[in-house]
Amino acid sequence: MKILGSEITPYKTYLNRRKFIKGSLASAMLATVTSSAFANHDSDLSIYTKNLNENDKLNSYEEITTYNNFYEFGTHKKHPHLNSGNFKPRPWTIKIDGLVKKPQTFDLEKILSNVTIEDRVYRLRCVEAWSMVIPWQGFQLSELIKMAEPLSSAKYVQFVTVFRPEEMPGQQKRTIIWPYREGLRMDEAMNPLTILATGLYGHEMPNQNGAPIRLVVPWKYGFKSIKSIVEIRFLDTQPETSWETLAPWEYGFYANVNPNVNHPRWSQGTERRIGEFKRRETLMFNGYEEEVAHLYKDLDLTKFY
Ligand code: MTE
Repeated sequence: MKILGSEITPYKTYLNRRKFIKGSLASAMLATVTSSAFANHDSDLSIYTKNLNENDKLNSYEEITTYNNFYEFGTHKKHPHLNSGNFKPRPWTIKIDGLVKKPQTFDLEKILSNVTIEDRVYRLRCVEAWSMVIPWQGFQLSELIKMAEPLSSAKYVQFVTVFRPEEMPGQQKRTIIWPYREGLRMDEAMNPLTILATGLYGHEMPNQNGAPIRLVVPWKYGFKSIKSIVEIRFLDTQPETSWETLAPWEYGFYANVNPNVNHPRWSQGTERRIGEFKRRETLMFNGYEEEVAHLYKDLDLTKFY
């Protein structure tokens, strides 16, 4: 089923329909998958839910939208919520270039009318050892990649965030080298778990969470999930990424969630779920081992972290 961003159900309707908050996650998930407006008709739904259990309560809309990392709006967790009011996420275009048949610039509305918007409840595990469970709306990145028609020589995908210092006060300071950039290997980008998210909790994507469109790669640390994307490049070599460029000894290109490989300054063995007191164990590949471990079978994960 195809729905446009502008047709996304308002927040209250969404909550009533799904009764996410009160029920256990299992029944919540059932509500999700049977909800006609958001039903995903053609893929195996179990892969989106099996890694979640009753201990994985959804974080509240407030938690998800007031505790953020988005350095374009400041380095404190409250800054994106407080400083992103002047950001204008519409109209929006995404430029596709590099190793593709026809480099072109897509209007976001055109992309949205050609893809299948689905619900995906994913954990987001930040490299700073906190996590949340977020009900996203979005579509598989593979759908856009197919529209872009990459050449067979394209082995990597690079993503670039918008650069608008007049709307993004953090970009007026040199905290990182702007614009924010991220990248994936082509097989990671084509994996069905990888989505471009355009909303959460049935809302269009809030500015502080990466409006109007951001990546979500649930088995990787949160910094891979680049926000407010304006350009996607197809390359034959591994692209530069913001955090790896800044501190390669701390942040690798792969950034797979891995409780056995610590950050040099802290352990990755446990995490603090926002809203909880007791720390919980971090899962290998953030709980998606079965779906993605095969991608790294020949890779030394202590070296390629
Ligand atoms: N994208 C951009 N453009 N700028 C950023 O500072 N922060 C990253 C990622 N995407 C970031 C970004 C980090 S470190 C995390 S943990 C997630 O966004 C946080 O996403 P959330 O604020 O929606 O929870």
